[in-house]
Amino acid sequence: MDSIVREALFNHVRSWMLDAGALIKERIDDPLEISTKSNANDLVTQVDQDVEKFFANKIKQYYKGHLLLSEEGFGDDLKDTKGTVWIIDPIDGTMNFVNQKRNFAISIGIYHEGIGEIGFVYDVIANNLYSAMRDGGAFKNDRRLPMLEQNVPLEESIICLNHYWLCENRLIDEKVMQSLVKRVRGTRTYGSAALEFAHVAEGIIGGYLTMSLEPWDIAAGRIIVKEVGGMTTDIDGKEVGMLERSSIVTGNPNVHNKVISEYLQNAKK
Ligand code: IPD
Ligand code: CA
Ligand code: CA
Repeated sequence: MDSIVREALFNHVRSWMLDAGALIKERIDDPLEISTKSNANDLVTQVDQDVEKFFANKIKQYYKGHLLLSEEGFGDDLKDTKGTVWIIDPIDGTMNFVNQKRNFAISIGIYHEGIGEIGFVYDVIANNLYSAMRDGGAFKNDRRLPMLEQNVPLEESIICLNHYWLCENRLIDEKVMQSLVKRVRGTRTYGSAALEFAHVAEGIIGGYLTMSLEPWDIAAGRIIVKEVGGMTTDIDGKEVGMLERSSIVTGNPNVHNKVISEYLQNAKK
């Protein structure tokens, strides 16, 4: 994508992110219409749907040729990575939105011919807008984020992980990760993948590991993390495609590598 086109698009999306955030804030104290999807803990509200519709309408109106891949059903049925694709999670962390009224984010990644061009993660309640443009660095609001330190020891790092896979629905044997969890300074679960990526980019957590995420959970965050020199792959260290559901490890380079090598070593035992 041409850099002038990218910058114009970036500015448009930025202002729509703020509008969508205002829309959420206006409705946050209203009674929520909550439905469940794949299981009792997989929630969606009318607000998730309305935010997605807001962006779907903007794309239709202003960017007719662009495609939309999104969580709540207002997107296109994509077969490949051709063209310009907006990958949207209208509210990432819906459970937090419902139970806590904070700790959720709007996440938008824009890809052109499969390459990540623009990423936005908006922590609406904290009013922190994380953003990045390919080769343009990453920002938290108007502050440019510094490049991540390359050699932060695992022992001095906080790792985010999804505790769900340590219990009944586990996708991984808890023994495989025990030594990792013992080595790190601490673990956290935020419940919003997009925010976990943003906090990796900000350098306030060293890495984030989870066994199953959808494209809209990671589309924006991985662009932002890349711009500060962080790495994102699946748990085997392989690149993750734009349209794939996958395990994910993201982090500063040392933590990313250590998490994967620890996993690979223990998985073979
Ligand atoms: C969820 C959050 C959560 C992650 C789940 C996602 P949603 O997204 O990112 O942190 O563990 O796998 O589905 O459903 O709130 O958009
Ligand atoms: Ca999500
Ligand atoms: Ca969502």
